[in-house]
Amino acid sequence: MRDWYAEKGSEWDWGLVAEDDGVVGFVATAGARLDQLFVAPAHQGRGTGTRLLTTALTRMPPSVTLTVFEENGPARRFYERHGFRKVGRFLNETENAIELVYERGGAYGLPVATGAVS
Ligand SMILES: CC(C)(COP(=O)(O)OP(=O)(O)OC[C@H]1O[C@@H](n2cnc3c(N)ncnc32)[C@H](O)[C@@H]1OP(=O)(O)O)[C@@H](O)C(=O)NCCC(=O)NCCS
Repeated sequence: MRDWYAEKGSEWDWGLVAEDDGVVGFVATAGARLDQLFVAPAHQGRGTGTRLLTTALTRMPPSVTLTVFEENGPARRFYERHGFRKVGRFLNETENAIELVYERGGAYGLPVATGAVS
């Protein structure tokens, strides 16, 4: 896990953490891609994710993309509340799970190069 983050860290443009007696959440971006957004379970539902996301968006290009697992209903609803729209769908072969591509601020509905499955 630590190695995975060490490797990913060099790909991210920047990260931001939320603290409350320790780190309770973080967001990382790579260009126009929102790459990571996590809030510790005990701290979810209190606006921390919203603050991390909205801060990230102020530092990113106008059109932003992210991927989220199709089965992650809470995260999908969270992103949709924040103006993201589904624009693609593909099989993550490593996880053997469907991922959705979401976009905000771009030309909604345009195809994305992700090897979409129907
Ligand atoms: C998705 C995730 C980042 C959201 O973070 P969060 O801190 O719970 O987000 P918020 O508290 O801002 O919003 C969550 C919900 O709480 C509600 N909420 C926001 N502020 C609130 C507050 N002050 N008090 C009570 N409820 C609040 C919102 O209505 C929101 O509802 P919605 O999800 O139906 O839109 C978080 O659930 C998470 O880390 N999940 C696991 C990891 C994950 O799936 N990450 C995304 C991978 S792509």
